[in-house]
Amino acid sequence: MEFDEVILGRRSIRGYKPDPVPRALIEEILQIAMRAPSSMNTQPWNFYVITGEPLDRIRRGNTERMIAGVPQSREFRTGKPFAGPHRERQIGVAKQLFSAMGIARNDADARQDWVLRGFRQFDAPVCVIITYDRDLDGSDDTPFDCGAVATALVNAAWSRGLGAVINSQGIMQSPVVREHAGIADDQVIMKSIALGWPDETFPANAVVSTRKSVDEAAVFVGFE
Ligand SMILES: Cc1cc2nc3c(=O)[nH]c(=O)nc-3n(C[C@H](O)[C@H](O)[C@H](O)COP(=O)(O)O)c2cc1C
Repeated sequence: MEFDEVILGRRSIRGYKPDPVPRALIEEILQIAMRAPSSMNTQPWNFYVITGEPLDRIRRGNTERMIAGVPQSREFRTGKPFAGPHRERQIGVAKQLFSAMGIARNDADARQDWVLRGFRQFDAPVCVIITYDRDLDGSDDTPFDCGAVATALVNAAWSRGLGAVINSQGIMQSPVVREHAGIADDQVIMKSIALGWPDETFPANAVVSTRKSVDEAAVFVGFE
């Protein structure tokens, strides 16, 4: 695939075929993703690539804790709730997804099912947990670098026909992930990525999210 085709065609995938993803293909994708730049080439990222029974245990653990109302326990700062244009964009993409899935605004059960789907990693055959070296805790460069590698990862996956969705839902109950993925104490859990072959019949997979314009985002200085 051409670069533009990958970048413009990629979208988050939230419905997967059950088919397994070969380990060699995931290794190839990780190798490409790790060409991402990082602060001083520190490469703070590490990956726990989970499938099969351990992933099923994480799905169960996440679901049980969320249903029981266990408060979120992420391992990094999350900031205050979205407001203003950020909240509007958050609602915008949720509306697109709910509309594609035929979930009505007042259908609490269907909305709950949708949320739980996220805590099951969208039933993807693979989940990649991105962690970073605890020694680097406190530097904002480190999550920035993890974001760079995550973006490269989902684009590399897309270029090979695989779908993915970067998500926080998978790591909101971090002790569950830590236990079943055997995450080392010297690692901080940053984010999860569900990965697998897209189910073309799953309506939400067709959603193309909007973007603000270059005019809104960019300030050009000294051009004329
Ligand atoms: C840091 C981060 C966290 C995200 N968390 C979730 C999540 O918990 N659940 C989800 O369904 N999507 C999640 N997403 C996917 C975003 O909703 C998605 O990237 C955004 O709406 C743009 O859509 P696109 O990826 O299809 O272009 C997350 C994306 C990022 C980068």
